[in-house]
Amino acid sequence: MATKSRVDEILLRCIGCGAVTTVSESGLACVKCDDLLEVIFPQSADTGEKHSNFDAVALKALWRQRRASHLPMDESGVWRFREVLPALGERHGPITLREGNTPLYELSRCARSAGVRQLYAKHLGMNPTGSFKDTGMTVAASFAREDGFRWVACASTGNTSASMAAYAARGGMRSLVLIPDGKISWSKLSQALDYGALTCQVKTDFDGCMRLLTEIVNRMPIYLLNSINPFRLEGQKTVAYELLEQFDWRVPDHVIVPGGNLGNSSALGKALVEMKELGFIPKLPKLSVIQAEGANALVRTVRETGGKKLVPVQADTMATAIRIGNPGSWKKAVRVLEATGGTVEQVSEVEIALAKAEIGSDGVGCEPASAVTLAGLKKLVRHRFVDPDETVVLILTGHLLKDPDFTLKFHRGDLFVGTTHEEESQILAPQQRGPMVLEASVDAVLKVLETAEKTS
Ligand code: F0G
Repeated sequence: MATKSRVDEILLRCIGCGAVTTVSESGLACVKCDDLLEVIFPQSADTGEKHSNFDAVALKALWRQRRASHLPMDESGVWRFREVLPALGERHGPITLREGNTPLYELSRCARSAGVRQLYAKHLGMNPTGSFKDTGMTVAASFAREDGFRWVACASTGNTSASMAAYAARGGMRSLVLIPDGKISWSKLSQALDYGALTCQVKTDFDGCMRLLTEIVNRMPIYLLNSINPFRLEGQKTVAYELLEQFDWRVPDHVIVPGGNLGNSSALGKALVEMKELGFIPKLPKLSVIQAEGANALVRTVRETGGKKLVPVQADTMATAIRIGNPGSWKKAVRVLEATGGTVEQVSEVEIALAKAEIGSDGVGCEPASAVTLAGLKKLVRHRFVDPDETVVLILTGHLLKDPDFTLKFHRGDLFVGTTHEEESQILAPQQRGPMVLEASVDAVLKVLETAEKTS
């Protein structure tokens, strides 16, 4: 159970009423208005001190220098930036799988297809459990252990549960997973099982799992590791620091993120705003959020209410990672759109499938939810929100191998059979490369090679 620790020195602010509190006073939601909390960073902001202890030039040099160190904390691409994270107590130290330090790739074919000259992918699928969740999980799981919890839990569309289960196991904690029955990919489920989570496939959707879990953690001493946990978002902030470092601190024009529960867009936006405040960068990139048409709560919220009131939806999309209709962090995400001048866009199932195959053709690959970024970029270029001369970064959130079923069905031409998208999906044919079953003869292979050579 929670005991008095250094965690209690970390101040949190309610994003609704602005009340300042601590974890021991409030848990993870405001006691006054029940809205979400965020870590106040830098803390001196509230005591009226200026950010005099932040020397951006010295920190940039120190962070780079740490890449040559073999200390676990320095080998982590999250804890390497520990000066911008809440201070963890000294009881245990961080739980790390050497997360972060993910590659930035140039996508030349995708750039041509989207109609921009400079397109990059920051591939967070290259994290230890194959998704961006690890960058937040290392921080929040470490705080859970520091605070004395034996159990951690999450509701998940798959990636959070895989990540949480791994970090809990590394940190000697038990983990409870609630996932929607039949609506997550087998590879993500198998990860949670392998890392020893108590895994419940619940006969509801993600939003239903979240409702159940909120009640469970109110009754039991279990630490909630969904992205409404403000410590997760602090860890996810480091992705923005690392991205800017990879650009030698030159600011790209646009950063494009998939939107589900909206923790990631909130974290990246918080990081960018803080980075500008602290003098790491001179201006902000526009941060835009892309959703699947079938899970477009933020798009509707922005378009129908100007971002004032959440419009929840009954979510449905083959990009199961973002099959979420009642996003927890919607207010934080709206604030990021306003602060950075970004926008929201939605893309169809066929557009997602096409974009995913195109990212694959660049030799990079990702899971369907990540591909909404490229599909969205194409629309933003068409609508002239993005200029062809601007530099764009797509945040790829999950690895290709997270959802092999989707990829196999796509290439075999089965993905949209019997769905309402069947006709529209005809445009995918040139991208499909189903495996061929051949007789075991040299001639048979040479024949397909000859045909392939003629058509390439
Ligand atoms: N991309 C992937 C691969 C995801 O797994 C998720 C969310 C998102 C994008 C959306 O990020 O929720 O921060 O807006 N997956 C969560 C999960 C919900 O349970 O794994 P978000």
